[in-house]
Amino acid sequence: AGKLTFTMIKPTAFKNNYAGPILKMINEAGFVIKAMKLTQLTPSQAGAFYAVHKGKPFYESLVEFMSSGPIIAAVLEKENAVEDYRALIGATNPENAEEGTIRKLYATSLQQNAVHGSDSDENAAIESDFFFSKTERY
Ligand code: CMP
Repeated sequence: AGKLTFTMIKPTAFKNNYAGPILKMINEAGFVIKAMKLTQLTPSQAGAFYAVHKGKPFYESLVEFMSSGPIIAAVLEKENAVEDYRALIGATNPENAEEGTIRKLYATSLQQNAVHGSDSDENAAIESDFFFSKTERY
């Protein structure tokens, strides 16, 4: 398994001032931040990021939401990063997220589920490259 994953703190979580507590949970779970930025996606950029979901019933609404306000994007390092980060954030639908997970604590709905986490090593690389150049990684 790879050592890197990619995450975004979504607009609602950022707006609610949960970036601090979420990053604290990430650090305390043993992840090291290798790249990070605060930015707002255009609808076109959000659409490209989530292109894999194009055509699904939630796609248009997701793109609108993800471009509605600032997000934090970050590359995280840890052994078994993708799998361990998915365990830390919990199920996509916060109603199914385990107690103590980031989504259980900070999500407000399936769409506004606090954070995104890569679902594979391949997508972690693609998603990290979407946001960060080589000189923006440490
Ligand atoms: P994320 O991990 O960012 O990946 C795709 C996002 O689409 C997901 O989190 C949710 O915010 C959103 N979404 C909305 N509806 C659904 C759904 N029915 N199934 C999966 N993802 C959904």
